[in-house]
Amino acid sequence: MTSDKTLSEFQILPATPEMLPDILALEEACFSSPWTRKMLETELMSNQFAHFLVAMHRGQSAGGSECAIVGYHCFWIVFEELRLMNLAVRESMRRQGIGTALAAEAFRMALDLAATRAVLEVRASNAPAHSLYTRMGFVQTGKRPRYYSNPIEDAVLMEMSPLVMPSGRQNVPTCRAGGESTSTDSL
Ligand SMILES: CC(C)(COP(=O)(O)OP(=O)(O)OC[C@H]1O[C@@H](n2cnc3c(N)ncnc32)[C@H](O)[C@@H]1OP(=O)(O)O)[C@@H](O)C(=O)NCCC(=O)NCCS
Repeated sequence: MTSDKTLSEFQILPATPEMLPDILALEEACFSSPWTRKMLETELMSNQFAHFLVAMHRGQSAGGSECAIVGYHCFWIVFEELRLMNLAVRESMRRQGIGTALAAEAFRMALDLAATRAVLEVRASNAPAHSLYTRMGFVQTGKRPRYYSNPIEDAVLMEMSPLVMPSGRQNVPTCRAGGESTSTDSL
């Protein structure tokens, strides 16, 4: 169950190049076929459609003695479509609402840019992610057989159309690139 008190210990903010080592470490800990540093770097620095958010312990900065980054989310907003690409939360920090808060922030940014639908693909066996996305309002629209490798597995395609803010209260403050601070607690 999500606790607002716990969530208030975290904040969501845009990723920076200095955070890449910590993001890569998290990526490698969370996925059997992780993105490489080069792939992460390309998304962060060269892809005009990509957005990159991290969830961090409040008051800590990346590169400190203890890794402050507890989750990250890479997503694309391509005109009318929000595409969730990679979402990961450190194992010891899961089930506290951080994954939902990172996804919800992408929804808010996509709606601000007038996106009208959201899509994603996920491994067929990934029950936690299915559960999270279903709870947010995604529905399954299809399958891509043997889409993933290591191990080979089907991809489940999910979509939300029209795109609306998901229900459920999340309370992770968000620091925008310009320093403006908001909160997702209106969800
Ligand atoms: C999927 C993932 C990002 C979820 O992050 P999280 O911070 O634990 O998610 P939340 O705490 O916001 O969970 C929201 C809801 O999703 C569902 N959920 C999340 N993890 C679940 C699990 N292990 N089992 C069942 N349901 C789960 C629950 O409904 C949960 O609400 P609840 O805790 O109130 O019951 C995280 O498990 C993860 O990083 N997994 C490895 C990487 C990955 O698979 N990413 C997705 C790729 S598409």
